[in-house]
Amino acid sequence: MSEPEQPHRRRPRYSGKYPRRFEDKYKELDPEKYPETVAKVLASGKTPAGSHVPIMVAEILDALAPQPGERAVDCTLGFGGHAREILARIQPGGQLLGLDVDPIEQPRTEARLRALGFGPETLLVRRSNFAGLPKALAAEGWSGADLILADLGLSSMQIDTPARGFSVKVAGPLDMRMNPQKGQPASALLARFQPDALAELLRENADEPRAELLAQRLAGQTFALTTELAAAIRAALPNVSEDEREKSVRRVFQALRIAVNEEFAALDTLLRHLPECLNPGGRVAILTFHSGEDRRVKKAFQAALREGLRTAKGLCRVGVAGRLLAECAGSR
Ligand SMILES: C[S@@+](CC[C@H](N)C(=O)[O-])C[C@H]1O[C@@H](n2cnc3c(N)ncnc32)[C@H](O)[C@@H]1O
Repeated sequence: MSEPEQPHRRRPRYSGKYPRRFEDKYKELDPEKYPETVAKVLASGKTPAGSHVPIMVAEILDALAPQPGERAVDCTLGFGGHAREILARIQPGGQLLGLDVDPIEQPRTEARLRALGFGPETLLVRRSNFAGLPKALAAEGWSGADLILADLGLSSMQIDTPARGFSVKVAGPLDMRMNPQKGQPASALLARFQPDALAELLRENADEPRAELLAQRLAGQTFALTTELAAAIRAALPNVSEDEREKSVRRVFQALRIAVNEEFAALDTLLRHLPECLNPGGRVAILTFHSGEDRRVKKAFQAALREGLRTAKGLCRVGVAGRLLAECAGSR
């Protein structure tokens, strides 16, 4: 007798028009079960939900030129896309130290990379802010690294998960912490701001052209949800085009996120320590996303190159993709 046919199991039904929870909405969140969906999304040029497509991989590999046996640090492990490419090229004998502050995504990334065959002798994954790079190297007994990568900002998984509080589109708590176990959420920060200080922050962190007006409306306010803050920004700008309004929404979110995570302080510290963290002949690549990061990397690289650092490449992913900011070969 043949086995009774298994009924096709549908994903859960939702009472409304749209699934309420992010976890229910995307098949890609279960890539093992729905590999064709993941492939389809990738083929359409989009990023499957719950993952991150590494950018400028060819440029990064060109800048870092990983060789078998070398020691690499990925300061921003994220989904592990760049790390995976580097790992493949430093074998045999090489090691990659992957750092990230995110306690939610990092274990998932480690599990994915381990499943690809990168064992603990090859891949070291540590939860650490890259500002502590010298300490992280010392903890492994490394006197330096041959290549160092930092791909600044957020991963798509962080942005897309409403519960993390980065999404301007889908309601989530106004949090924005890459490490939700540390520091204070964006809602608390915004509630404590005075207008002058907020205006300064919007200019410095996001080049917001309507910083004063927005700061007057937003400083000291309490917003529980990301969408409440987005709505307040839109309401404060009734006479600008929709396109410009949405840009302001994104810039305010960016400025707050940078403050919440103290991103510039971490980057400045990393840049200060970079030369001492490199082995002779070492290479660095930093991917920046906006002008605040761009300026810092460019300045630090120019100074380091003047002082004799061998090679440093800053790759900017805003504006002209792949713009080379600083490149020099010399000796140290
Ligand atoms: C753009 S993603 C990196 C994506 C990664 N290159 C990939 O291929 O998947 C940036 C990552 O850096 C992490 N991050 C941001 N600032 C950090 C810091 N100061 N120290 C350590 N990790 C940081 C974020 O949590 C995020 O996972």
